[in-house]
Amino acid sequence: MGRRIVFLGPPGAGKGTQAERLARAIGVPHISTGVMLRQNVADGTDLGLEAQAIMAAGELVPDDLVVAMVDERLGQDDAACGFLLDGFPRTLAQAEALDAVIGEGTMEIAVLLEADEDELVRRLMQRAVDEGRDDDNEDTIRNRLRVYRQETEPLVGYYPEHGVPVLPVDGLGTIDDVFARIVAVLAEH
Ligand code: AP5
Repeated sequence: MGRRIVFLGPPGAGKGTQAERLARAIGVPHISTGVMLRQNVADGTDLGLEAQAIMAAGELVPDDLVVAMVDERLGQDDAACGFLLDGFPRTLAQAEALDAVIGEGTMEIAVLLEADEDELVRRLMQRAVDEGRDDDNEDTIRNRLRVYRQETEPLVGYYPEHGVPVLPVDGLGTIDDVFARIVAVLAEH
């Protein structure tokens, strides 16, 4: 099973949910830039102050800030033997910067979680009720989806061109069903 894995997919596809579970199962850190950025906002760091309004609008935090944050995180001891990236890279520039940090050919597998837009919006609107996340309102959700299609979806083409297989996984169904599909496709690679 690959130990340097990136999760791709639109907002609400289940990247965070599945990445956390898989990371525990295979014993590598789950590195989520969304979680790290929200922690910076909560802590009131300079990065958090800069990121807060951008995140609330569903836009992307500038590449240089996110790359520096991930570079620092990947330098920690627990990432030496592998990691599971969730929400990063999100632009071609971030993917190229990541390759420069870890070395091209180091990433082993990309898992692409897929779900239709109605289901994505339904899940995120439900989370707005359950958790009150700042960027889970309908306008911002639509913008996050637009930004995903424009900025992040091109990575689905980038990775195979750089020798990294992209494994599509149906993100519909229960969390257990989706997890079982992910484990099954990874077992084949
Ligand atoms: P981030 O936190 O990465 O948000 P996102 O990509 O919009 O992802 P989500 O958390 O909404 O969706 P997910 O696919 O992880 O699904 P999840 O498992 O949570 O980023 C937030 C913001 O930070 C960005 O908009 C940007 O501003 C900034 N940012 C982050 N990274 C950046 C970067 N690299 N560069 C620049 N800016 C960056 O599930 C969603 C919901 O669905 C949950 O409530 C969950 O319980 C539920 N759910 C999950 N699976 C199922 C299922 N099978 N059935 C039913 N419900 C389910």
